[in-house]
Amino acid sequence: MSPKPNTAPVFHDLAPELAQFAAEVHAGLAHCPKRIPPQFFYDAAGSALFERICELPEYYPTRCEVEILERHAGDIAARLGTETLLVEFGSGSDRKIRLLLPALAPRVYMPIDISKAHLKQAARQIARDFPNIAVHAVCADYGELRHLPHHPPGLAVTAFFPGSTIGNLEPLAARRFLHRIAGLVGPGGWLLIGVDLKKDRAILDAAYDDAAGVTAAFNSNLLRRMNRELDADFALARFRHRAFYNEHAGRIEMHLVSTCAQTVRVAGRTYAFGEGETIHTENSYKYGIEEFAQLARGAGFATREVWTDAQTMFSVHLLQVE
Ligand SMILES: C[S@@+](CC[C@H](N)C(=O)[O-])C[C@H]1O[C@@H](n2cnc3c(N)ncnc32)[C@H](O)[C@@H]1O
Repeated sequence: MSPKPNTAPVFHDLAPELAQFAAEVHAGLAHCPKRIPPQFFYDAAGSALFERICELPEYYPTRCEVEILERHAGDIAARLGTETLLVEFGSGSDRKIRLLLPALAPRVYMPIDISKAHLKQAARQIARDFPNIAVHAVCADYGELRHLPHHPPGLAVTAFFPGSTIGNLEPLAARRFLHRIAGLVGPGGWLLIGVDLKKDRAILDAAYDDAAGVTAAFNSNLLRRMNRELDADFALARFRHRAFYNEHAGRIEMHLVSTCAQTVRVAGRTYAFGEGETIHTENSYKYGIEEFAQLARGAGFATREVWTDAQTMFSVHLLQVE
């Protein structure tokens, strides 16, 4: 008799402590220019705002990646194989993995995300809808995760990293992170990764500065989060959202711009801002297809396939460890 399917996900809580958030904010605000790493956008409100961004007419990446995954789920499953331990980095909502799970049918699905409540909710729904897949959700900063908290012996690991979240890392850090993934999946192992493409500046600028102001709300939610969790006193009306494509660096930059000279207290320390001074809150690097293939090669991956959407706005790369 086959074992009864278990529909409750296992939850591994390796989330960064509040002290680490405080330490990173202090280090970032003491840095010149001021900066805060983008993973701190994602508390429950930040994740909900990101979901709204994905629905915006200007935000093409989600629509384009979904189009690619829908069209090629069968080919992807044929290459990646079934009966695996499938790890998803920065899983967010379950929208994209749902397109792949029926064909991929992994034995274990392991979404990794820093946003705890959002991750728990998505993992519960996946476990309920795919009762034959064991779901192990990991709340962690994937940059700090040195080994998987669950890995049944003999199960090959495959990796999925959608959303062009790799673009949040500087190219050198991206290569290092891909190298870590290569070590995780091992020789012959697979990584399916979504990568946003270089394109017309006007399209990029609009995608990160939408008319409805949702991306602006997502950016300033970071200030709200610091006020609540780090006893900070940011006046939200004294900072404005700024996003633009830095063509020279090949990246979108997001900033929070101080609209006046002011001081702000954060977790017991005071920081001075000049008028126009910014906190750099996110980079989103854009790549050419060959440019990304080269980056992946430097991390030990060969490119086996690249798919794009009909308008060549976004790419999904199927990489294999050489
Ligand atoms: C740009 S969103 C993409 C979400 C989803 N994968 C998609 O394609 O729509 C980035 C996701 O990665 C998560 N994330 C960002 N940095 C992270 C980190 N360092 N460790 C773990 N999760 C992270 C966020 O919580 C968020 O869910």
